[in-house]
Amino acid sequence: MVSGGARLEGEVQVTGAKNSVLKLMAAALLAEGTTMLTNVPDILDVAIMSELLRRLGCEVVRGDATVDITVPAVPGHEADYDLVRRMRASITVLGPLLARCGEVKVALPGGDAIGSRGLDMHVAGLEKLGATATVEHGYLVASARQLTGAPVWLDFPSVGATETIVLAAVLADGTTTVDNAAREPDLVDLCEFLVAMGAKIGGIGTSTLEIQGVAALSPTTHAVLPDRIVAGTWAVAACLTRGDVTVVGGRADHLEIALDKLTSAGATVSTDGVGFRVVMADRPRAVDVVTLPYPGFPTDLQPMMLTLNAVADGTAMVTENDFEARWMFVNELARLGADVRTDGHHAVVRGKPMLSGAPVTAHDIRAGAALVLAGLVAEGVTEVHEVHHVDRGYEGFVDSLVTLGADVRREAGPEPLF
Ligand code: EPU
Repeated sequence: MVSGGARLEGEVQVTGAKNSVLKLMAAALLAEGTTMLTNVPDILDVAIMSELLRRLGCEVVRGDATVDITVPAVPGHEADYDLVRRMRASITVLGPLLARCGEVKVALPGGDAIGSRGLDMHVAGLEKLGATATVEHGYLVASARQLTGAPVWLDFPSVGATETIVLAAVLADGTTTVDNAAREPDLVDLCEFLVAMGAKIGGIGTSTLEIQGVAALSPTTHAVLPDRIVAGTWAVAACLTRGDVTVVGGRADHLEIALDKLTSAGATVSTDGVGFRVVMADRPRAVDVVTLPYPGFPTDLQPMMLTLNAVADGTAMVTENDFEARWMFVNELARLGADVRTDGHHAVVRGKPMLSGAPVTAHDIRAGAALVLAGLVAEGVTEVHEVHHVDRGYEGFVDSLVTLGADVRREAGPEPLF
């Protein structure tokens, strides 16, 4: 339940990145022994990945912002539907298990309701490395007696496909190059983690990666990088509520285009040693946004920017290039009175001074967070249903909002996981 009208003010701490920690946890499978991760967020998706690793025979111990993963000499090689359907990132175990076990069976994923999200580039990449892959009874089944390095060109800089290929290639025989690779900070974090385990990876952070396979990797200790999407969510929240929020631990250098958009909307953004601060005095101005792979504007902040434009002065065009089904969010925003029309990849948003509170439903993590933010600038009360989606990616979201001065209440606690 969100009551609109509050101005957010104060400091908020950014947690470790969801889309990094999940991949690091899966990558731990590449080495026998205990890998230790710090700066681990307390989110539902980490609990799901922990359970998945346990079912593969690992011991997973969660501490205060830490997770220790002990991998046996021979892990299991089957990830079942029960867990994979809850979280698409489960597919990240594909590459490591193929490399370690020579065979893998992973249920085709579910996860967010934000589009078809194929696996064709993952599969094509593994086939280039010598694997055979088929779909059988809802499972992707792949095997390879010995993976062999090869050149791989991606049609699109897919984050997931780049990860799968890198995670298989680190233990392949010979050199793999990945052209048109994704460059997201999460992927850089993963590559740096793999290098600390003994992998040989060149071109980290560029669109061409060169991976020289090694015979074995060793466990390591690694701090998860701060979550740029969580940091960006707080930045938009400050701008939206004409607030003043310091995002402690936020990496402005990972959010350059997003923060520049907020500056165009009228915010003042400053950085210091601990993070960045967003201050907004007036009604935001409308700003056009086009989502693109990193370093472009992140699709995961698109619903928040749509919300900002819904109450901005003027008309904006928001273009979604990654996930067509993200427009499901528009129907929910319209329930709050937003004036948005979509056509293909584009949405035209005509700003109104304020939205109007109503019951709405979250269909994915980011839509859920954006609907809560929309409630902050809606007159009256907004009820966000299916808010458990937000728990998948935001630690203590409601508590942080309350600390910043919002009038938000959680009606029921998080649902039991198993
Ligand atoms: N795609 C294919 N075939 C493939 C791979 C991808 O068609 O083999 C398409 C997808 O259908 C999608 C587009 O390419 O339309 C982008 O997919 P990508 O592989 O880049 O994304 P992802 O790995 O599935 C990750 C994040 C998403 C984030 C995107 C883009 C994780 C767990 N998820 O997804 O995060 O939106 O990259 O940056 O890392 C979120 O956190 O809420 C979230 C959805």
